Amino acid sequence: AGRKFFVGGNFKMNGSIKMIKEIIEQINNAKLDDNTEVIVAPPALYLLKVQETLSAPAQVSAQNCFTETSGAYTGEISPSQLKDADVHWVILGHSERRALFGEADKVVADKVRAAIKAGLGVIACVGEKLEERENGTTEEVVQRQLEAIAKEIDEDKWKDVVIAYEPVWAIGTGKVATVEQAQETHAGIRKWLAKTISDKVAQETRIIYGGSVNGKNCRELAKSEDIDGFLVGGASLKPEFIDICKSGS
Ligand code: G3H
Repeated sequence: AGRKFFVGGNFKMNGSIKMIKEIIEQINNAKLDDNTEVIVAPPALYLLKVQETLSAPAQVSAQNCFTETSGAYTGEISPSQLKDADVHWVILGHSERRALFGEADKVVADKVRAAIKAGLGVIACVGEKLEERENGTTEEVVQRQLEAIAKEIDEDKWKDVVIAYEPVWAIGTGKVATVEQAQETHAGIRKWLAKTISDKVAQETRIIYGGSVNGKNCRELAKSEDIDGFLVGGASLKPEFIDICKSGS
């Protein structure tokens, strides 16, 4: 559908100077082509170092940022500081931020608005918990999370957003969503975008899947019409991340 394949590697709170250096060297040596957009998100402490050493076309991303530009917010990093440091992407609303750090839909949406205003690209994460899938409320939950974001940003800003659908029960569990489950939810999100925002936004927005993606299951998922890439956790720390980066072409 003309959407450029997108693969993000989310290191979460993993790695060391030595380990991250090795991972970046592997990515630099992988000869990634321009058909896929690749971003890697190390812990904040390592952002500058990765920014300096990572070769194009791969780009660095933060895992989180705050809403405000500057001020008395101990421990936080602002979107404009990321921009200043040549970090042009940020992951927002990851389920771990939502569940462990109490980020509600509105907080996530405010962060998305602030990040876009500062000129960042945003990987906005949504996804249901196991009990929500079992209750049959997956679509409702995902739409509620997206609705909050839609309220904060204008139609023309969706070009700066990549939506990451990550079912919480599939994250770090080794229990990947089936191709049918992922495709169904992605198609539902695209339908929602068409209805709520516009056909153009629905056609152009990348919807990527996250949750136990690895070098073995990525190709099958990548074939699905509405799966435009991946957000990878555990496997982004391993050599198979390169195979995942190449699974779209
Ligand atoms: O951001 C990445 C996701 O949370 C997926 O993590 O690949 O370790 O399941 P995982």
